[in-house]
Amino acid sequence: MNNRNKYYCVVPAAGVGSRMGTAVPKQYLRLHGKTVIEHTLARLCAHPLIEGVVVAIGADDQYWPQQQLPDPDKIYVAQGGAERCHSVLNGLQFLSGFADVDDWVLVHDAARPCLHHDDISRMIDMLSDHPVGGLLGVPVADTVKRSNPAGEVLQTVSRDHLWRALTPQMFRLSQLQQALQAALDEHFLVTDEASAMEHAGLKPHMVEGRADNIKITRPEDLSLAELYLAQQETA
Ligand code: C5P
Repeated sequence: MNNRNKYYCVVPAAGVGSRMGTAVPKQYLRLHGKTVIEHTLARLCAHPLIEGVVVAIGADDQYWPQQQLPDPDKIYVAQGGAERCHSVLNGLQFLSGFADVDDWVLVHDAARPCLHHDDISRMIDMLSDHPVGGLLGVPVADTVKRSNPAGEVLQTVSRDHLWRALTPQMFRLSQLQQALQAALDEHFLVTDEASAMEHAGLKPHMVEGRADNIKITRPEDLSLAELYLAQQETA
C-alpha cells in the first residue's frame, strides 16, 4: 500500500430526492435508528485511513444542523450545487484548500448508507498504487435488453464485462477536479466521477464491491437498506 498520499472523502448530499416522493430529502429519512446520512458518515469516519470528509450541503438545507455527527472534527461542509457533479466539484475545491494535489478522494453518495468497511479497505488496497484510480461496481446479473423508444426489443446485450457503477469512486484530487471541470466546460453529461475521467482519456479500474451497497432512490429501497443494516450488524 502507498502510504505517501492521504485519503479524504467528498459526500454529495445536496439532492432533493424527487423520485422518493417524500417532503424530507432522502438523505434525512430515518432508518435503523439514524438518518441515512448519519449512517453514511459514520461508516466513512470510522475507517482509520480516512483523514476527513467534506459534505456538500444544499444552500437552504434546514435538516443538516440537526444531524448527529459521528466525528465532528473529521467533517467539513461545502456548498452543494445544481447537479451532483457541481456538488462534488465544490467539495473538491474546498478540499484543495488543505489537501495535497495527489491525495486520494473517495467520492461517496450520501444516499448509500450500507457501505461496508471491507469495501473501503479493498478499494484502497487495490488502487493506492494505480495511476488513475477506480470505482466500486457489481457485475450485471440480469439479462440486458436494448429497446427503441416505443419499448420494442432490438437487441440482447452481452453481459460480459458489464458492471453497475457504485460509489465510492476514488481518484486523485487534482486529476479529478480537472476532469470534472473539463467535462462541464465541454457540456459532456457527467453521471459519475469515472465518466469524467473516461472523457479525459483515462481508464478507471473496476473493483468488485458488495451488492448491498444500494443507493436509496425509491421508497422500497428504505426497507431493503434497513434489512441490510440489521444483517451487517449481526454478521
Ligand atoms: O439523485 P441521485 O440519487 O442521483 O443523487 C446521488 C447523490 O448526489 C445524493 O447523495 C444526492 O444528495 C447528491 N446530489 C447533490 N447535489 C445535487 C444532486 C444530488 O449533492 N444537486
